Amino acid sequence: MSKPEVPLIAAQNLRKYFPVRGGPFGLGKQFVHAVDGVSFEVAAGETLGIVGESGCGKSTLARLLVGLIAVDEGKINFEGDELGRDISHQALQRGVQMVFQDSYASLNPRLTIAESIAFGPKVQWLDDPQGRALRLMEKVGLEPSRFAARYPHELSGGQRQRVNIARALAMSPRVVVLDEAVSALDKSVEAQVLNLLSDLRDEFGLTYIFISHDLNVVRYISDRVLVMYLGEVVEVGPVDAIYARQAHPYTASLFASMPSMDPDRRTKEPPLAGDPPNPINPPSGCRFHTRCRFAESICQSKTPALKPLLGQSDHMAACHIHEVASGHSLARAGVPA
Ligand SMILES: Nc1ncnc2c1ncn2[C@@H]1O[C@H](COP(=O)(O)OP(=O)(O)O)[C@@H](O)[C@H]1O
Ligand SMILES: [Mg+2]
Repeated sequence: MSKPEVPLIAAQNLRKYFPVRGGPFGLGKQFVHAVDGVSFEVAAGETLGIVGESGCGKSTLARLLVGLIAVDEGKINFEGDELGRDISHQALQRGVQMVFQDSYASLNPRLTIAESIAFGPKVQWLDDPQGRALRLMEKVGLEPSRFAARYPHELSGGQRQRVNIARALAMSPRVVVLDEAVSALDKSVEAQVLNLLSDLRDEFGLTYIFISHDLNVVRYISDRVLVMYLGEVVEVGPVDAIYARQAHPYTASLFASMPSMDPDRRTKEPPLAGDPPNPINPPSGCRFHTRCRFAESICQSKTPALKPLLGQSDHMAACHIHEVASGHSLARAGVPA
C-alpha cells in the first residue's frame, strides 16, 4: 500500500497521567503513567492493531484519540490538522468514532435500535437520520423490519455490537477505534463480526485502530501492529514481519503466551512470568528490564529509543539488547567467509 504524504491520524509524544491518592496514609498525590510518550501514524485505509497486557494503556490511548479525554502533553493530528489548534474536539469526534467492548453499556436502554443509530446524526444535524439508520442496519446485517423497533435487551451480544458499529458509521467517520470490540463475543459470533468489520472497511474506505489482547484476531484484521508496555510503545511494524519475528523480548514473550495450533509458529520463548510493575513508579531505563531475561546494566539506566531494525525501515523496536544484536549481525555480515 502506498503511503499518502499526510497520515490520516498521527499521535506525537502523547502523555496521560491519572492522579491517584498515594503515599503515606493516602495523603500524597501520585500519578499513574497510563500513556507515556506514545507516537505513531496511521495511513488512510490502513488498520493498526494495538496489543499489550491489561493495564498497559491501550484504552487510555483510544480515549485520547477520539477526544474523550484531554491529553496532558503531545499532539494529535487528524488529516494534517492539529487537535485544539486547527480542529475542535467536536470535529475530531465526527471523524473518529469508537466502539467499546461492552455492547450493552454503550446503548441507551430506552431507545429502540433505529433511534439509537439515528441519535448521533440527529444531534449533528446530518441529512435524514432515520433513513441513514435503516440503511446502516442493512449494512451491518440487522434486517430493519425485524430489528428497528426492538430494544437493546432484546438482542444478543453480537447483534448489539452490530448496532454499535452502525452507530459509529452513522456519523460517516474516516477512522473507527475499536477497543476490544469483539472480545466479549463467543468465538463463532466474533468471527462473523470480524468479517463484517473487514467488509465495511472495504466498502466505506475506513481506517481502523483495532485494540485487542487476542493476537490471533489482531493478526487477521491488521496491516500493522503496535505493541505497548507500561504506557510506552516497545515495537511497531507490519503484521507479517512481527508475527514472523518479534524484535523486542517483551513482544516475544507476549507471542509465546499465544495459543497456536500450528507447531511451526510456536516460539521457544518462555511466556511472561509475573505481573507488570506498578505504573505509578515505572522502572527506570527500559521499563521491561525487571522482567527481561536478557537485561544488562544499560537497560536499567537508559531508556531505549524506538529504532528501525537493520535493513527494515518500517519495523521498529525500543531495545538496547536488540541494538547490540543488530550490531553483531552487521559485524558478521562484514566478515569475509
Ligand atoms: N480514570 C483513571 N484513573 C486512574 N487510573 C486510571 C484511569 N483509567 C485508567 N487508569 C490506569 O491507567 C493504566 C492504563 O489503563 P488502560 O488504559 O485501561 O489499560 P488497558 O486498556 O491496556 O488495559 C492502568 O494502570 C489503569 O489502572
Ligand atoms: Mg482496555
